[in-house]
Amino acid sequence: MKCDPRNRFVAIPTFVLVVAVAVVAACTSPPDHPTPPPDSPSPDASPGSAGAPDGPPSVIGPIGRGEALFHDRRLVGLGGNGRACSDCHVDSDSFQLSPAIAEARFQRMIATGVDDPLFRPIDADDFVASGDAASDYDSLRHQGLIRVRMPLPANIKLVDPASCMTGGVPAPCETATSYLTSPSTFTDVWRAVPSVLNVSVSGSDSHGPVWPRDPGPQGGYQLDGRVDTLQNQARAAFLSHAQVMTVPDPGMLDDLATYEKGLLAPAEPPLNELETKGKVVFDRACAQCHNGPGMSTPITGPVGIVRFFDDHAACPRSVDTVSPPRWNFPPCPPALARKEQTYEIELADGFKMRRTSTDPGRALLSGFVFSGPFAADGSCLHPPCGLPFADDWQKLEMAPLHGISKTAPYFHNNSAATLEEVVIHYEEVFKRASALFPPPEMPHLLTTDGVHRDRPNVPSERSALVAYLMRL
Ligand code: HEC
Ligand code: HEC
Repeated sequence: MKCDPRNRFVAIPTFVLVVAVAVVAACTSPPDHPTPPPDSPSPDASPGSAGAPDGPPSVIGPIGRGEALFHDRRLVGLGGNGRACSDCHVDSDSFQLSPAIAEARFQRMIATGVDDPLFRPIDADDFVASGDAASDYDSLRHQGLIRVRMPLPANIKLVDPASCMTGGVPAPCETATSYLTSPSTFTDVWRAVPSVLNVSVSGSDSHGPVWPRDPGPQGGYQLDGRVDTLQNQARAAFLSHAQVMTVPDPGMLDDLATYEKGLLAPAEPPLNELETKGKVVFDRACAQCHNGPGMSTPITGPVGIVRFFDDHAACPRSVDTVSPPRWNFPPCPPALARKEQTYEIELADGFKMRRTSTDPGRALLSGFVFSGPFAADGSCLHPPCGLPFADDWQKLEMAPLHGISKTAPYFHNNSAATLEEVVIHYEEVFKRASALFPPPEMPHLLTTDGVHRDRPNVPSERSALVAYLMRL
């Protein structure tokens, strides 16, 4: 079957699911499909349709052109590696990419011998060592993760793992007594493909709190909010993911943005009794961060919930030094743990410290990291110190939640397989905060009224909360 993006939209509502799946499968296959000319008629992706309309195809216009471009693998005149936006933001997968789909496509590529542009060396595990000959797609196939290359701020360097020694014996880089930093000016982090449903309401907004540092002090695009507009986001995606030689012109980027803004997640349906109970828990424990139309805008409170947050999904996970431990995150699976890298961070006065993470988040944008106050004895390792809420280490933007039942796995590194795992993870996030901020401290994270520490979600609320999340 030819993979004309238009087939998908025409076919899905018309045939039974099996046929739709076959069409989508055909459309995930490589690259002999015709690219619709920019002005070709294209289906209406009007708001609410999530790109799978049942109305008549709309005619020429920014939405139609944007939609064609979103699905265009050839990108005539731009160069590129055969990838379309829709190779990662898969229409049939709520415009994200699940590991199951990535693996199915990989297996099909092997079985048929037909190239699939989802798999390009730039995202392969062995890219750094093998360059264009790289071919190990484990992270993409099994975790659905994409390599994102970030320039390092001037005060952050990667520690060379081979150089980490203590007394002449190889040692963990964070505690090694001798080590060398790498001359690399960039680092690679591995991130899930977020859904582009609801991007019209998940970018920056003016009603939540303002972060004290750029970029995007009021939020933005990408998991760390570093990009201001959908046009700039698309330009970066063309360059990095599709490896184009020529940047698309502004009109094309406008069309893409117009198309993306029309992709909406379904609205919240009426709730049954259990789900209604879950919503009460959500409003108390979660909506302080997942608020606003995209469920991605934090509220501004007396103590101020911040714009970006470290929800401890990155690896390694925080371990309590007190026994019995007051919080207990499940350790990261080995496939994620092997992506941990140690960074050397130099503070303004020349003091150097090391931190290990799979994803330093916004610290890669600003270089701004506090050294404390959570040294083993609660003291500040080296000034400036501050609340862990307030620096940029591992900070990411609050994720939008509409349509979340269809976008497993969860978190920026796809580390939670189910919504139940997410909810359990947050029980531990709250336990950790409760332990580190004993009364009378009253961070907004833990209190709805400044008096009671009543926000944390607890195990007895799990099933109701999950039931509600499934309906978002
Ligand atoms: C190789 C896979 C891949 C391709 C191809 C790709 N993306 Fe993405 N996209 C990602 C990943 C991964 C992220 C998150 C990156 C980050 O946070 O650093 C992302 C983020 C986004 C976001 C931000 C969503 C948000 O809520 O902040 C938008 C919008 C987006 N992509 C649109 C596009 C468009 C438009 C194209 C085509 C020009 C495209 N993407 C091509 C993988 C891909
Ligand atoms: C203090 C702020 C904060 C609170 C409270 C909070 N979240 Fe989050 N949430 C975030 C941030 C930041 C992210 C993105 C981090 C990541 O992906 O690792 C996120 C991500 C998520 C995701 C993953 C979305 C995806 O597409 O992968 C889910 C699901 C989620 N939160 C649900 C909840 C639930 C349920 C609660 C309440 C029990 C909650 N959150 C409470 C800040 C918060």
